Amino acid sequence: MPAGFAAIVSKLRSFHRIGSQQQRLMSDSVQDFTSVLQNAKKVVVLSGAGISAESGIPTFRGEGGLWRDYDATELATPGAFAANPSLVWEFYHYRRTIVAGAAPNAGHYAVAALQRRCRRQDKDFVLLTQNIDGLHARAGSNDVVELHGSLWKTRCCHCKAVETNRDMPICAALDGKGAPDTANEANIPSMQLPRCQKCNGLLRPHVVWFGECLERDVMNRTNDALQGCDLLLVVGTSAVVYPAAGYAPMVKAHGGVVAEFNTEDTPISYNCRFKFQGPSSVKLPLALGIGEDELAELKQSL
Ligand SMILES: NC(=O)c1ccc[n+]([C@@H]2O[C@H](COP(=O)([O-])OP(=O)(O)OC[C@H]3O[C@@H](n4cnc5c(N)ncnc54)[C@H](O)[C@@H]3O)[C@@H](O)[C@H]2O)c1
Ligand SMILES: [Zn+2]
Repeated sequence: MPAGFAAIVSKLRSFHRIGSQQQRLMSDSVQDFTSVLQNAKKVVVLSGAGISAESGIPTFRGEGGLWRDYDATELATPGAFAANPSLVWEFYHYRRTIVAGAAPNAGHYAVAALQRRCRRQDKDFVLLTQNIDGLHARAGSNDVVELHGSLWKTRCCHCKAVETNRDMPICAALDGKGAPDTANEANIPSMQLPRCQKCNGLLRPHVVWFGECLERDVMNRTNDALQGCDLLLVVGTSAVVYPAAGYAPMVKAHGGVVAEFNTEDTPISYNCRFKFQGPSSVKLPLALGIGEDELAELKQSL
């Protein structure tokens, strides 16, 4: 074996060894996690599409990530909207229809119950979500930081006004459109797509698309949340979309503990002291010790 190649193989082996050792250090002990949670003063939850998967909302990466023949991540871009606003609106109309018919699951309720518990115990708590579905709020979470905006808000391309909009359908021309199992595009003329009530400009979904930056206010709230966070729960995110992908390494670098809840391993798994592998609707209530009584009390108060 040439010397240079042998050196590379040896380096890769040592990375693998380090990886395996770290993997062994990841714990799924509920008892140890409970004690870290009890001692934590500032708890942050970062959630992604996986927490809503069991509510029937497809994630982008994995099963359901295709809409018609398109990779969902191809349509969530400013370029796709500029090229074909009708197609992108059909895609978002479909997503709004799915979410309107969905309900929060036990994972969302567990996060809401954790927030209440932290409040009672005088701990800081912040929920950061990459999801745009609004299910956390429907499960009783307050002050949710929606990193990527909301399916239920629009922004005017002309005057930039942001409005909440829950109309279904959002405009008459989208009625019955957006079906994922057809190749027929609706080709709706721009003037019949959702328009701004103030200036008649074309509306777009108020979501952060790939290639766009988070809003300044959202970034500030996020930085404040991560400052001094001593326990970060990362739930159902593939941890490949920045800046959120950088939060776990950041918290760990400042001495905080990271716990991951995911059905699979992700690039941040090795930053985690705790790894609860499995559906978040099961693993979150289990790890947080959320009992039936606490859940019932929460649901009753909604
Ligand atoms: N519900 C939504 O609002 C929604 C849905 C799809 C995509 N998006 C957007 O797309 C981007 C995708 O990034 P992302 O990391 O959030 O999602 P992603 O699709 O990239 O990854 C989903 C992750 O969830 C995990 N997962 C799947 N089912 C799970 C379950 N039952 N329990 C726990 N984990 C589970 C997967 O292993 C994967 O790591 C985000 O920016 C988000 O705004 C949002
Ligand atoms: Zn306008």
